[in-house]
Amino acid sequence: MTVLAIDTSADDTSAAVVAGRRIISHVEYSQISLHEKWGGIFPTVARRAHEERIDGVVDAALRRAHVQFSEISGVAVTYGPGLAIALEVGIRKATDIARTYDLPLIPVNHMEGHLYSSFAQNRAGNPTRDYPFPLLGLLVSGGHTELILWKDHLVYEILGETQDDAAGEALDKASRMLGFGYPGGPVIERLAHGVGHVDRYHFPRPMMRSNDMNFSFSGLKTSLLYKVRAISAEALPEEISYLASSFQEAVMQTLVKKTRRAIETTGVARLAIGGGVSVNRRLRALLRAEVARYPNGHVYAPAYPYLNFDNAAMIGMVGALRLSRGLTLPADATLDRVPRLSLLQSTTG
Ligand code: KG4
Ligand code: ZN
Repeated sequence: MTVLAIDTSADDTSAAVVAGRRIISHVEYSQISLHEKWGGIFPTVARRAHEERIDGVVDAALRRAHVQFSEISGVAVTYGPGLAIALEVGIRKATDIARTYDLPLIPVNHMEGHLYSSFAQNRAGNPTRDYPFPLLGLLVSGGHTELILWKDHLVYEILGETQDDAAGEALDKASRMLGFGYPGGPVIERLAHGVGHVDRYHFPRPMMRSNDMNFSFSGLKTSLLYKVRAISAEALPEEISYLASSFQEAVMQTLVKKTRRAIETTGVARLAIGGGVSVNRRLRALLRAEVARYPNGHVYAPAYPYLNFDNAAMIGMVGALRLSRGLTLPADATLDRVPRLSLLQSTTG
């Protein structure tokens, strides 16, 4: 069954054609250049850009897959979590298509997409890895930081989540404090790599001692701010890489420590990672070293780089699964966006 999928949850306008978990085509228009100067996503700019691009992106995804609307079995769309006025653009397009071509509408949770993306395949069906349930999921993006027990298809338990800023948001804010732009994660990673990940400032590891699996990153951000202010303007340029590196170490080590706690609590050491922060090479190295301590420990990451970031292909995968289980809405349904949608809300369909 072939599914057309749309994601407009943040700053990427994306459409894909997916068969099962094989990605037949994927098209994406990134708005990063439009938001750079604001240091983050500017909502009304995002909506206008989505509106301008959505038709072209959907047409291109179908064209590249050599598929017509008449050959599609359902339309999957992200209905949350995300930016309300951005989500609305994708939902409107998907509901229009569903009505026009009398297709089932498949609401998909964006975070569910990130979780599934490690198991996406290319057109030829590679990689062939199966779903080794139960899995742990570590979702780290600009808006989310969550540890999940992924028990089976569409069945999850949230083990922990951030109490304030998301990991990516913390990195984005740190980048701004250090005088760089958005997105901050890649900048911080490059600076940290340049000085060999040295942890000169040893910022406090937030909630490190608490026994739960929740995160908190806002205090860390304040520590960085004080440190930046305390360093004299002349010394700052050469200290910037050390500040970035120390900040990245604090964020990544916190993620790893809480993941360890999740492994110890559940006995599951097979970890699927997703979301923009999960491309970070330092994080991956630390996580791989962590799971290697356990028999059967393994880190599953998306096989193709674009699948780490926001994309409609992952939405199509979940959409195809939901379609196969009848978890769809009728063609004439109205679907509302849910900006703070939880992973648990969407399991009932
Ligand atoms: O998943 P994503 O593309 O969008 C959502 O937030 O849903 O994630 C974007 C986040 C941003 O905060 C960005 O700074 C971060 O991912 N990011 C990184 C890296 N590349 C992007 N964080 C750490 N290291 C990276 N290389
Ligand atoms: Zn995302």
